[in-house]
Amino acid sequence: MNRIVYVNGEFLPEAQGKVSIFDRGFLFADGVYEVTPIINGKLVDYDAHIERLDRSLNELKMAWPCTKPELRKMHEGLVARNKLKEGIIYMQVTRGVADRMFNFPKDIKSSLVAFPQVMSLVDNPNARTGVKVVTTPDIRWLRRDIKSVMLLAPVLGKQEAYEKGASEAWMVEEGKVTEGTSSNAYIVKNNTIITRPLSNRILAGCTRRALFRLAKEHGVIIEERLFTPEEAYGADEAFLSSASQFVMPIVEIDGHRIGGGQPGPVVRKLREIFLEEAQK
Ligand code: PDD
Repeated sequence: MNRIVYVNGEFLPEAQGKVSIFDRGFLFADGVYEVTPIINGKLVDYDAHIERLDRSLNELKMAWPCTKPELRKMHEGLVARNKLKEGIIYMQVTRGVADRMFNFPKDIKSSLVAFPQVMSLVDNPNARTGVKVVTTPDIRWLRRDIKSVMLLAPVLGKQEAYEKGASEAWMVEEGKVTEGTSSNAYIVKNNTIITRPLSNRILAGCTRRALFRLAKEHGVIIEERLFTPEEAYGADEAFLSSASQFVMPIVEIDGHRIGGGQPGPVVRKLREIFLEEAQK
């Protein structure tokens, strides 16, 4: 694909988008990122992503790479230059470029890179059939509330899922599901949605936040509590949420069929109201 990408202030053809080998994102995973969905050429829930970016940067004492209006212009510039109708914008901020040292180097400027990826978000065929999930131990660090680019545990978890014929892994810690490798995790029992409360052990999903608001508006009850894989095996329905999948039905967990192996009514309804809102 011949995309236009963004690297530290410049829009460039993707082959020219290069960063230094001394970038701390490359050497230490000393960086944070956001993935913002685009539908009909428009940014979806942009403010929530920027609020979370701000929080991630603050938690890591990392400087903003530009002003907030500049960042918005960059996102819109990528959408326009790539004529992106549907997909995502990936953006990453790292602490910058310096000689390799563990502590923060003085007086360096944060790096900012971003690129688009075309994806079928609304008409995703997986949403019609539902997807399979396997569980795996959660081996990540304890600041999962920070959207850091340190993603080796999720990479291993997702690969394990693929090798087992599934498309996501739900990570398990102390016997309870934390979240997916790149999504939040939910089960449905007796029309109530159950999902883990926010803490340092999961990422506060922007899609999760939007779903909480929409569920409230539509009288759907959400209970925030921990749940085990065994409870999930016996759930009426299950789903995951993320900026690139929105609300995705799950029809199998560790080989256990959920809801007769079909996306259930609560999940279908949630996806529908989410898409309606996102396309406004
Ligand atoms: N991942 N939990 C984890 C560990 C995630 O990586 C993500 C998102 C989420 C959902 O957050 P949101 O609804 O804001 O996308 C939860 C993105 C999509 C990714 O890494 O590609």
